[in-house]
Amino acid sequence: MRLPSLTLKPGHAAAEETSMGITVTPQESGFGAQVTGLDLAAPLAGADLAAVKDAWARHAVLAFPDQPLSLEALEAFTLQIGPFGIDPFIKPMPGHPNVLELRREATETATNFGAGWHSDWSFQAEPPAATLLRSEVTPPVGGDTLFADCARAYDALSDAMKAVLAPLRAVHSASRAYGTQGVFAKETAKRTMEIIVSPEADKTIAHPLVRTHPVTGRKALYVSPVYTVGIEGMTLKESHAILGFLFAHMTQDEFVYRHKWAQGMLLMWDNRCTVHYADGGYDGHLRVMHRTTVAGEAVV
Ligand code: SIN
Repeated sequence: MRLPSLTLKPGHAAAEETSMGITVTPQESGFGAQVTGLDLAAPLAGADLAAVKDAWARHAVLAFPDQPLSLEALEAFTLQIGPFGIDPFIKPMPGHPNVLELRREATETATNFGAGWHSDWSFQAEPPAATLLRSEVTPPVGGDTLFADCARAYDALSDAMKAVLAPLRAVHSASRAYGTQGVFAKETAKRTMEIIVSPEADKTIAHPLVRTHPVTGRKALYVSPVYTVGIEGMTLKESHAILGFLFAHMTQDEFVYRHKWAQGMLLMWDNRCTVHYADGGYDGHLRVMHRTTVAGEAVV
């Protein structure tokens, strides 16, 4: 067995090399990492899978460049991480009930999908732990995905603010996006993705506003402007004042990693301690991504 070694790559923080020949290179910001030395098209050996899960726990957003994966291989790798999550309100790919195609044609004028800070499906009783997103076609400009580190954002709060937030439960709902009065219900521009607007989306659920990560034990803010609609027991004005502060706080530059895509790259992120935002800026160009989710647990 080789001993772990430490190598420096230009423009990057120190690369951590595991004993299996897998290189984990933290992003410059210290949030997120790039992982090389693996072929995700084949089932991973136990030690490799453990190294991936360990890197994921430490870095929250993992980028695997150059992974030419069929849909079946994407599904198989997802299942190595955990069972599929439930993806509501979007028609999945034919023959692949657990894969969504995020497709925006060059001619499309509808807002790009995911253009608002959110943690995937946080309105579910057991929201997905992970999302995996693979780039099939990347536009020559724009189309980045931004991630905010909600654990670091929590750590940066004062002890007094942490004490205020500790007992609070935030109310989540899919209504603003997929509800009967939501943005997709009102949309007039043609969209390639088939969105299913439903009264189901108007339901609400409350989760702890600060959640504890089941693997790392770290606390993180668990709210987002897309899916968090209030705070239990508070008036809307009171909720908006606290949530407005938190949304601005957690999406400051110092907590954000801007992911730039390359063709055939797979990204795996942790929805329990991050929020993300799909940036636009690629009108006139095709962008195609394939997405799966891994089931999570009740929020505590
Ligand atoms: C999403 O919110 O899952 C979409 C992210 C992206 O397309 O960059």
